[in-house]
Amino acid sequence: MTLPPGPGTSRPLQTLRWMYRPGGMLEDCHRRYGDMFTLTIAHEGIWVFLAHPDAAKQVFTGDPRVLHAGEANVVLLPMLGHHSVLLLDEGPHMSQRKLMLPSFHGERMRRYERTMSEVAGAEIERWPLGAANPVRPAMQRITLEVIMRTVFGVQDDARRERLRRTLGEALEWGSDPRRMAMLAALGPQRVARARMFRRVREPADELIYEEIRSRRAAPDLAERDDVLSLLLQARHEDGRPMSDEELRDELMTLLVAGHETTASSLAWAVERLVRHPHALARLRDEVEADGELPYLDAVCKETLRLRPILALVLRRLTEPTEIGGRLLPAGVNLAPCIYLIHRRADVYPDPLAFRPERFLEQPAGTYTWIPFGGGVRRCLGASFALFEMKVVLRELVRRLDLRPADPRSERITRRAITLVPERGGEVVAQPRVSARAA
Ligand code: HEM
Repeated sequence: MTLPPGPGTSRPLQTLRWMYRPGGMLEDCHRRYGDMFTLTIAHEGIWVFLAHPDAAKQVFTGDPRVLHAGEANVVLLPMLGHHSVLLLDEGPHMSQRKLMLPSFHGERMRRYERTMSEVAGAEIERWPLGAANPVRPAMQRITLEVIMRTVFGVQDDARRERLRRTLGEALEWGSDPRRMAMLAALGPQRVARARMFRRVREPADELIYEEIRSRRAAPDLAERDDVLSLLLQARHEDGRPMSDEELRDELMTLLVAGHETTASSLAWAVERLVRHPHALARLRDEVEADGELPYLDAVCKETLRLRPILALVLRRLTEPTEIGGRLLPAGVNLAPCIYLIHRRADVYPDPLAFRPERFLEQPAGTYTWIPFGGGVRRCLGASFALFEMKVVLRELVRRLDLRPADPRSERITRRAITLVPERGGEVVAQPRVSARAA
């Protein structure tokens, strides 16, 4: 068994390049070595990148006993805990996922529309006008508040504020690059025990457990439609309810998986739209016409294609397996590469152009449009995220006129494991003078 080709440079050099120039590195390797190549990254082991949709399909439809995603995500263990759906594999993963799936069914998202538009509207009303301002922090406030209300279901303002502050601190701790390096160097088990880590996790846990206990006893539990209340009523196949620890770990998972990802995708949507005035004008016309919103959907899809927040997903092989005609050894991490598959010219003509129309002409393919991964590990919150992106963008273009603070496109930079706009999606906003009002 031989690994696919890859750069001959040392592991530290490959790691550095991966940290600071992930996009350029992936494109270079793809050009040089083709659709399958190998990188070795410090503390992560061997990654075999897959840049062809057929190989992605093979992984997403493959046997979950052989393709472990949970094992490959172990770096998230200290924050998410042992019961997190992101960290489990095989039977325990499926049983946890089955409990959570109904809460995120596409149809259910409509119930959150009012909350999402109110939260977005209130935040957008406070945006500074006439001066350069990055949108990502504001988007993050929106997505955090939406999760507090729709997932945690906290209705009391003071309680929500306390939870928001404490969880915000814990999340911020995890996204500092120096701490990420420490996490990788010490290994997740030791970080979980470290005092400096426990100092941020424990206050957050205390509040979450308090919320779980008081909700369990709530007289209106059966009528509520926030995710926590639904999970409290869910039952495992043997009739058991979820334990407090399971609930804590899944709430934390939903928060970590769902809040920055959606906020950064929204920041990218704005970053791309303000540099494509025709697309922005078409979107605005559609929103103001108050009918169906196919172009809004296409804008979100094109943003997630061209600026995916995660460059790859991972599956660790538990036994030697043939992928793309090559036998690969157990222990390697397969990395279906979202970033490269989304930039294939044979799938997306003129791939670097931001052209939402392409998704009006052709539906998104299961293995060619993969911002949410795929198969039995596909993002549980995909419908939630897309729905929220549409509601927030709709509120935004209704209320404000936007232009870029600097006409040059923002570079893709890394924030922890996500890819974000270098200047946070900087825009200058003015109150919207709608065509109809005029
Ligand atoms: C634009 C926003 C988002 C993006 C780009 C995104 C992307 C992803 C990706 C790539 C995966 C891994 C899939 C795989 O391994 O095949 C994932 C998993 C997951 N995401 Fe998301 N996500 C987003 C928003 C959300 C939201 C809003 C939630 C929940 C509120 C969420 C919850 C999850 C969960 C629970 C998993 C683990 C699924 C499993 O292992 O079975 N995500 N997401």
